[in-house]
Amino acid sequence: ASTLGAAAAQSGRYFGTAISASKLGDSQYTTIANREFNMITAENEMKIDATEPNRGQFNFTNGDRIYNWAVQNGKQVRGHTLAWHQQQPGWMQSLSGSSLRQAMIDHINGVMSHYKGKIAYWDVVNEAFDDSNGGRRDSNLQRTGNDWIEVAFRTARAADPAAKLCYNDYNIDNWSWAKTQGVYNMVRDFKSRGVPIDCVGLQSHFNSQSAYNSNYRTTISSFAALGVDVAITELDIQGGSAQTYANVTNDCLAVPRCVGITVWGVRDSDSWLGANTSPLLFDSSGNKKAAYTSVLNALNAA
Ligand code: G3I
Repeated sequence: ASTLGAAAAQSGRYFGTAISASKLGDSQYTTIANREFNMITAENEMKIDATEPNRGQFNFTNGDRIYNWAVQNGKQVRGHTLAWHQQQPGWMQSLSGSSLRQAMIDHINGVMSHYKGKIAYWDVVNEAFDDSNGGRRDSNLQRTGNDWIEVAFRTARAADPAAKLCYNDYNIDNWSWAKTQGVYNMVRDFKSRGVPIDCVGLQSHFNSQSAYNSNYRTTISSFAALGVDVAITELDIQGGSAQTYANVTNDCLAVPRCVGITVWGVRDSDSWLGANTSPLLFDSSGNKKAAYTSVLNALNAA
């Protein structure tokens, strides 16, 4: 196959990208995105501050622009994200305790009912673990009680039973890291107690501090062995190593329940990291990079 999406589909997987609503008028951007990718994540437009700017008043204008563009072009959508300590609107940042807990529940219900039946995977909870000690990250949500994550998942299941429900985080790629083990233990506990969780998202933002490690395949297969899908949800690699991109792709392809890969932007100039780190598969002029070819070849060899 000659595109990433079609090549991934040969093994029943998808290949996705993050899309920004503000760039849907850029024809180079939409041409590449439409040609190469078959799973779409809104980079910011379905987050809490975007969708519920005032309590109880939902705004899906930009989320719907991305959703409609994706569906009109035959693509599926990953929803990102419903419960997170960042990008909370001001009104939510000022809440605590039971009123914050209720606001989280109401937010999940409001957004998921708008998109009911339309979203393949939802990142229900994002980045809830501490970066170093393997425990929970301190946040206003965490201070509402340790059960906030399972409450979020139970709420999400009831709101849209058709959506697959994911826990999504960064720096859970390296199997030897305490944070990875913390998330692994939570997923194992949720599966053993029947808390509804269907997938784990490995964001996979790789750089020199959190570098790709060959134990990544062990991480993917270990989560999958718990009975959840695994998705690579926000892939970018600072420096843009074609070999590392190939390794990541091959590690996903080696695990049947690794369902797909999403890169966090189209061209280097679209990256949250800035174009100078060369983190993505297309350069800032829209040309395919060596990393693109290595990913495509790996997908075609599967
Ligand atoms: O839209 C406003 C614009 O009106 C304003 O002029 C401009 C001035 O700074 O800010 C614009 O909003 C920015 C937005 O990106 C759109 O560009 C926000 O300030 C900025 O904070 C926001 O950054 C996003 C970041 O999440 C916020 O946490 C990045 O685009 C987005 O790529 C990044 O994505 C996250 C994932 O959601 C979760 N995992 C990590 C990943 C990378 O940080």
